Amino acid sequence: MKKIKTGVFGLNPLLDGGINENSTTAVIGGSGAGKTTFAIQFIRKGLESGQEGIFVSLDENKEQIIREAVEMGWEEIMEYLKDDLLVFIDASGKDFSNFIRKELHTFVSDWKKAGARIAIDPLTPVIWSVQDNYEQRELITMLLKQTRKVGTVLCTLEEHGTEGNLSGHETIIPMYLADCVIHLRYKAMEGSNSRMLKIVKCRNSWHSEEFHPYRIISGLGLVVKQGDFGKTRKKESAQELMKELEKNAGNLPKNAFQKLKETFKELSDAELGNITYAELMRYIMEEYS
Ligand SMILES: Nc1ncnc2c1ncn2[C@@H]1O[C@H](COP(=O)(O)OP(=O)(O)OP(=O)(O)O)[C@@H](O)[C@H]1O
Ligand SMILES: [Mg+2]
Repeated sequence: MKKIKTGVFGLNPLLDGGINENSTTAVIGGSGAGKTTFAIQFIRKGLESGQEGIFVSLDENKEQIIREAVEMGWEEIMEYLKDDLLVFIDASGKDFSNFIRKELHTFVSDWKKAGARIAIDPLTPVIWSVQDNYEQRELITMLLKQTRKVGTVLCTLEEHGTEGNLSGHETIIPMYLADCVIHLRYKAMEGSNSRMLKIVKCRNSWHSEEFHPYRIISGLGLVVKQGDFGKTRKKESAQELMKELEKNAGNLPKNAFQKLKETFKELSDAELGNITYAELMRYIMEEYS
């Protein structure tokens, strides 16, 4: 199985190097957990490594997603769009059953290149569009089967009801059908460590079975802490991080280096939580190695 990087800092080693190429991953989380941000990072990573990107949006519109991406420090998204390397399919407000059977089918049949990345964010409205469980399963199977023809798939699922209870019918069907399931547990009312990532399953691969704290950091997106999360971080000087970055400049693409420099200038202690500078630098270097 060939592994491809997720684009989420710190996550790949927890999946033995990344997700399997041409597989389907489901990212589950409540409101504000970071699902769209995850999807953007996934597509971005693909584009940066020469894979085309397709973003299927079922509720937020294209402009909103682009705005979010730019906010996260990804201005190049405009270039990729202009060059048709990134394609948006806006299915919001459509009859999903019809959309999957007709429009998406045509799109996939016309798509000549293999090895793209495709994100569906969120998948939940598709499940709600039909009543019957059997029909739901059939529709999701069809959607995943079609999208898989163009490459590696990532879909997001909204978590409703009690947090951490993934047995609701809107999550359970896609969870069974996906190859890899990642849960972004977000307890909005809790302070530190309110965000925890857990890999529920990953077919044909070793994966971590721990809960890993993650943060959403402006300019970077999701950063997952790999271990030792009980400890609190000692205060460090921001200059230390800049020094680390300068040391690694030679191993980073030029524009990534400039971007990170800008990001680090604004980086606050609150954003990092208990992720140390050394860890952050290590996760970033892993992502670009
Ligand atoms: N530019 C940013 N800098 C720092 N944090 C951000 C930034 N943009 C978003 N966030 C964080 O990410 C959260 C939202 O992430 P995202 O939109 O990916 O969540 P989601 O799971 O898709 O939510 P929803 O289900 O409502 O669509 C925000 O509430 C905020 O905490
Ligand atoms: Mg979202």
